[in-house]
Amino acid sequence: MCGIVAYVGPKEAYPILINGLKRLEYRGYDSAGIALLNSSLNVYKAKGKVSDLEDIIKDTDLHGTIGIAHTRWATHGEPNQVNAHPHYSQSKEIALIHNGIIENYASLRKELESRGYVFESSTDTEVLTNLIEDIKINENVDLFEAVRIALNQVIGAYAIVVISRNDPDTLIAARKGSPLVIGIGTDDYYVASDATPIVEYTKNVVYLDDEEVAQIRRNNTLKIKTIRNHEKTPYVQQLELNLSALEKGGFEHFMLKEIYEQPHSIRDSMRGRLHADLGTVSLGGIIDYEQKLITAQRILVVACGTSWHAGLVGEYLIEDLARIPVEVEYASEFRYRNPVIYEHDVVIAISQSGETADTLAAIELAKSKGATILGICNVVGSSIARATHAGSYTHAGPEIGVASTKAFTAQVTLLTLLALRLAQLKGTLSKSRFLQILNELDRIPEKVEETLKTSEVVTRIATQFKDVRNFLYLGRGYNFPVALEGALKLKEISYIHAEGYPAAEMKHGPIALIDEEMPVVFIATNKGTYDKVVSNIQEVKARKGKVIAIVTKGDTIVKGMADYVIEIPETEEMLVPLLATIPLQKLSYHIAVMRGCNVDQPRNLAKSVTVE
Ligand code: G6P
Repeated sequence: MCGIVAYVGPKEAYPILINGLKRLEYRGYDSAGIALLNSSLNVYKAKGKVSDLEDIIKDTDLHGTIGIAHTRWATHGEPNQVNAHPHYSQSKEIALIHNGIIENYASLRKELESRGYVFESSTDTEVLTNLIEDIKINENVDLFEAVRIALNQVIGAYAIVVISRNDPDTLIAARKGSPLVIGIGTDDYYVASDATPIVEYTKNVVYLDDEEVAQIRRNNTLKIKTIRNHEKTPYVQQLELNLSALEKGGFEHFMLKEIYEQPHSIRDSMRGRLHADLGTVSLGGIIDYEQKLITAQRILVVACGTSWHAGLVGEYLIEDLARIPVEVEYASEFRYRNPVIYEHDVVIAISQSGETADTLAAIELAKSKGATILGICNVVGSSIARATHAGSYTHAGPEIGVASTKAFTAQVTLLTLLALRLAQLKGTLSKSRFLQILNELDRIPEKVEETLKTSEVVTRIATQFKDVRNFLYLGRGYNFPVALEGALKLKEISYIHAEGYPAAEMKHGPIALIDEEMPVVFIATNKGTYDKVVSNIQEVKARKGKVIAIVTKGDTIVKGMADYVIEIPETEEMLVPLLATIPLQKLSYHIAVMRGCNVDQPRNLAKSVTVE
């Protein structure tokens, strides 16, 4: 969602800020703005893309060595120029950018209005800007102190950066519930909502903690306090991110690059964990919690979107291999439905970004009931990774395309490792069966590589169906979450309505939709309920539906029935999701490209959903 970038130092700020905004575009946004401070404090804003902002300001004097910039994803007030950030305070002395939501903004606004403040926008952010100005004037304090005092009155989530016309050497930054990272250059500072705008300038960073305020000064001083006025020593860490991971590397879109990265990203998520030579699996991050896991009466998984689909695969895996009951919950439902949580429950939170607001809130709720919380996150140092008791990173590398691809397969890989480890500890698999699955998992990256070669048939299917209005995805067992994920991918980036269903449930509703216009994608690989799925395919064919089937190489039965088949290599049943997902990602990608959609930044979607 919203993105923040700020700079203070000896260089010209504008190129750094605009470049930073472009790096943040992947998060999803609908307007952009920038404030530059030279002899005056100037704010420029535009509805639409960062390129629209560039067009608007191309003939303006953009000099200045301190500035703040923002991409906004509308929450309070429609996406337009007025509501875009930065927001000026009433006197125009202060400008502020903000990610998050100020929940008590209405009462704060009322109070400020009664004291003569007039608001231009409908945002919660402008309220905070004027609150800071009001405190600065009435309490006669500097900007650092005014921000600190103001944040004590705020309920909600924020990452903010503030500048003042009267202090051209200082950025004030603060966070609660929304991430903020400070990059420390040789003679300058960068601030951003994630490390992507910073990595090309410095690898030394300080992650702010919740309720911390930083005073960042041009003369190389960084001071951090809590909003309760306790001084903190900045803890400098090294970024592990590489710039090449943020570039398209010759691919037309980030999504395509990330689809093709999967043989490597899956291998990376197994590295140091799957020891094929020793016949063992180890997950260092959760080693201290293994006993808790194997003695747990149940495991709860909380997640959203694609991560929730990975969680469903995890449920099948852990129950199947380790015989521990698992419940998978949408974090957004879990947090509000008064769930039963026991102290001995283990909750696994899955999140690519590690910032999803609903997942974070679900974690806090489970924590407050005494449960043990483990995380499976991709972004190192993210809020969820920090909020959990322990966890394992997926190590898929930065995922820039909004539609998740390599993060999903890395999550599933990690969950497979976890299920195998728990099975090993509990003795629920024979040694030989354990080794069989482990060795096959070790071969999966090569099989993903092979699966990626099925391009010709996928583009043929995409050409045939790119203009349809509906798609149905069906699968059973391990392939049911794959069907859900296939449908989600298609609707996210091509805007074609698509539904995923367990194949047998088709008769209880979706069958009514089937006619000669309706493409139905079956994941019909050769294990588990294969025969049953074959019957389901017959039911669709009998109603003249168009069948696209993902089958195991060498299949003849489904081949004889389906209109199109995509072959994937033979593998263990529980590992099929890692292969079957790949052609579905590619199908969505090609359909979206053929329809002229913005694949990497689909409309209305955000990569990192930091509001509920
Ligand atoms: C957004 C993204 C999805 C993602 C979901 C959960 O909706 O567009 O791709 O699956 O959030 O995000 P998380 O970062 O928690 O995995």
